[in-house]
Amino acid sequence: MPVWSYFIFGLKKFIMWLSCYNSCFHCLLILSRRSEANDLALRLARQYRGHQDVITLDHAYHGHVTSLIDISPYKFNQLGKEAKKEFVHVAPSPDIYRGKYRDDHPDPGSAYADDVKKIIEEAQKNGRKIAAFIAESMQSCGGQVIPPAGYFQKVADAVHKAGGVFIADEVQVGFGRVGKKFWGFQLQGEDFVPDIVTMGKPIGNGHPMSCVVTTREIAEAFGACGLEYFNTFGGNPVSCAIGLAVLDVIEKEDLQGNATRVGNYLTGLLKEQKEKHPLVGDVRGVGLFVGVDLVKDRQKRTPATAEAQHIIYKLKEQRILLSADGPYRNILKFKPPMCFTMEDAKFVVDQIDEILTDLEDSTINRTRDELPTSIQSKRKMPPDGSSQLECINESISHINGSACRQKNGFYAENNTVPCKRIRT
Ligand SMILES: Cc1ncc(COP(=O)(O)O)c(C=O)c1O
Repeated sequence: MPVWSYFIFGLKKFIMWLSCYNSCFHCLLILSRRSEANDLALRLARQYRGHQDVITLDHAYHGHVTSLIDISPYKFNQLGKEAKKEFVHVAPSPDIYRGKYRDDHPDPGSAYADDVKKIIEEAQKNGRKIAAFIAESMQSCGGQVIPPAGYFQKVADAVHKAGGVFIADEVQVGFGRVGKKFWGFQLQGEDFVPDIVTMGKPIGNGHPMSCVVTTREIAEAFGACGLEYFNTFGGNPVSCAIGLAVLDVIEKEDLQGNATRVGNYLTGLLKEQKEKHPLVGDVRGVGLFVGVDLVKDRQKRTPATAEAQHIIYKLKEQRILLSADGPYRNILKFKPPMCFTMEDAKFVVDQIDEILTDLEDSTINRTRDELPTSIQSKRKMPPDGSSQLECINESISHINGSACRQKNGFYAENNTVPCKRIRT
C-alpha cells in the first residue's frame, strides 16, 4: 500500500473521532515531534490573516524549538525580562488557587478573560495584530491549572474579534486523560471549539509523533500561500499504524473510563491527605491529570518548594517517579500512564503519606530543638503548622533549582542525585 494510502486511512479514522465532537474539523497532518505540531500551528495562525502576534499564558510551555521558546514564559523567563519578544503578549495563568483571581472571586473565568481582552486592546493601540491565543487545555508545566468555566469561550470570542485564532495545545492532556471527555478543551463545554488543536505525547504512547487539526478555512488559507507543507517523515506509515493501534487500545481497554475511575479514586485519596497534612494546600484534578499544591502556610499559600523536592526524591527511592512543577516547583504533578490502577494509586499515596508524616514530625522536632525552652513550652502548634515550616525554610531558594541541595534538613544533604528539574 503506498504511503499516502496509509496516511489517508489514519486520517479518516482520526477525523471520524474528531467529527464526533465537531464536524468542522478538517485538516490533519501527522508529524514526528510535538514541537513541530505547535510550530506548524503558529504558521497556520499567522498565514490565516497575516497577523504576527501571539498571546500566551504565564508559565506556559509549548515546545523546544525557537518559535516555541519565544511563546513559552516557562522557558524565556529564565533568560531575564528582555527575553520576551515584542510580538509576544503574556496573559495571567487562569489559576484560581494562587493566581490573580482566586476561588473566592465571583467569576474568575470572566476576570481572566477580561485581562486577555485588555492585552488585545493594548496591542492594537500599539499597531500590533493578534494572530493567535495559545494555551494548553489545562496547564501542566504551569502547575496543573484547570481553567475556570467560561474562560476559553470568552477568550476565543475576543481573539476572533481581533482576527486571531484559538490554538488548544492537547499535547499533554488529550486522548482521554481527563476521563469525562476525550479532549481537555471539551471540559469548557460544548459551546467551545478551538480553531487549531495540536496533539502529541499520548498519540503514540511513547512513539514520537504528533498531529495538527484545524478548520477547512484555516487550512485553505495556508494552502493558498503557495508554500507547501513538507516534512520527510510526516504521515509515515509506521507512525500512522502506531497511532491507530493506540486509539484501538484506548477504546478496547476503556482507558478513558479508567482515567475517570482511577482518577476519582486518586483525587479522593489525596484529598484525605489534605485533611491530615497541613503541607497539602490544594488538590485539583480531572481524571488522571492531578496536582497537589504544597504550601508552608495554608492562608498565605506560600509554596513549599523544598518539601516538594524532598518528596519526589524520597519517592524515587521507592521507584515512584513523580515530578514537582509550576512556577515555584511546589506542585506534585500526577500524570500517570493511562493503565494506572487503583492499587497503584493507593501505593503512591501511602508513600506520600509516610513522607509527609516524617517531614512534619522532623520539622516540628527540629523547630522545638532550635527554639529557646521558654518559647517551646508556651508555643502551640498552629492549626496549619505553618510557622514552624516557614522558619526552617526561610533560607530556601524557590525557583533556582537548588532547593534540595541546601542544608535544610531535607533529603538531599548526602545525596548524589543531581537536583535538576524533572522535565515533562
Ligand atoms: C504542552 C506541551 N506542548 C508541547 C511540547 C513539546 O513536545 P516535544 O518535546 O515532544 O517536542 C511539550 C513537551 O513537553 C508540552 O508539554
